[in-house]
Amino acid sequence: MMSLFAMLVTALPDADAATFWMPESASTVAPQVDGLFDFINIICYIFFVLISGVTIWFGVKYRQRKGQHTFESGPTHNMALEITWTAIPTIIVLVMFVLGMRVFLDMRLAPGNAYDINVTAQKWSWTFQHPEFAVTESAELTVPANRPVRLLMGSQDVLHSLFIPAFRVKQDVVPGRYTSLWFEATRPGTYQLYCAEYCGKDHSKMLATVHVLEWDEFQAKMGKLAREYEDIPEAQLPFYAITRLYNRCASCHSLDGSSGTGPSFKGLWDRTTAGTTVFTDGTTMANLMQPGGAFEIPENYIRSSLMQPQQQIVQGYTGAMPSFQGQLKERQIDALVLMLKHLDKLVDEQGNILENPSLGGEASEEGATDDDG
Ligand code: CUA
Repeated sequence: MMSLFAMLVTALPDADAATFWMPESASTVAPQVDGLFDFINIICYIFFVLISGVTIWFGVKYRQRKGQHTFESGPTHNMALEITWTAIPTIIVLVMFVLGMRVFLDMRLAPGNAYDINVTAQKWSWTFQHPEFAVTESAELTVPANRPVRLLMGSQDVLHSLFIPAFRVKQDVVPGRYTSLWFEATRPGTYQLYCAEYCGKDHSKMLATVHVLEWDEFQAKMGKLAREYEDIPEAQLPFYAITRLYNRCASCHSLDGSSGTGPSFKGLWDRTTAGTTVFTDGTTMANLMQPGGAFEIPENYIRSSLMQPQQQIVQGYTGAMPSFQGQLKERQIDALVLMLKHLDKLVDEQGNILENPSLGGEASEEGATDDDG
């Protein structure tokens, strides 16, 4: 029966498109999950109509009529009827269990030839590491099509849940242990990944985009990402940082001056060099920038904020920032410092990232910035 529904579902034109109940489907388990869902759903419809129909029909048929004051006593027991209404639902529920268990086991047991990706969940971003290519992605997950992919997942802080509706997979990510899930994407394209477990203030911003590519394209992209920050010319580093690294910061640090979980990046460099930033312990940036101070070289403040974020916490904020120790290469730290220095050239007044920033001749334009309200 299940395979009949699965056949029906897949035989329909454009079976991958979103339906009333389901989002688009793009993995090998999706038709199984949808088939099972439809099977249970249709049984529910049938019983809903059957039971409410009979209830209404009996209500009308056996209603108390005018002038009728006594009831004849009807039958109190019918063995055949009771066996029937016990046996049939039991069989239906057992069929649901067996079909559900089969799909569940398929979804739990990753095939041996799966491509491995390590996932780190953190308030409020996703990091994806490809050990095979030594590539780290954040807020973007690139996977090959038509090959099983296994995610080995851990959390740095609280409970999260990785959910890709188009693949019909969802799994909690728990601090202090690994969990895993697997899928095989069937169609190249772009799909949405969500955090599906409330994990604090910016839970709803804990998103990522899944890119499914054919295997050769996938390999090419991995090769490119592996060398990415090494190949970039110095002048392009700020643009690389805003387009490739900033998405890791985006849920807490705005570009338009609005306050988030952390201070906005807009005007951050100006506030830093002007020494106006005040920390929770009462010290100011100006104190720390004096000769011999910790941040005599203000660039070190940015480095310290990335590596030991708990050392100085800006007044008005809680120390929610995780450490990026070991997660950023030296050249990527350089890129982030340059990004903050040249942010006014990378984004417009509203904080939208510019497609083609004019980074050339930046040395001569130094000091032309004044958007620190
Ligand atoms: Cu992470 Cu919700």
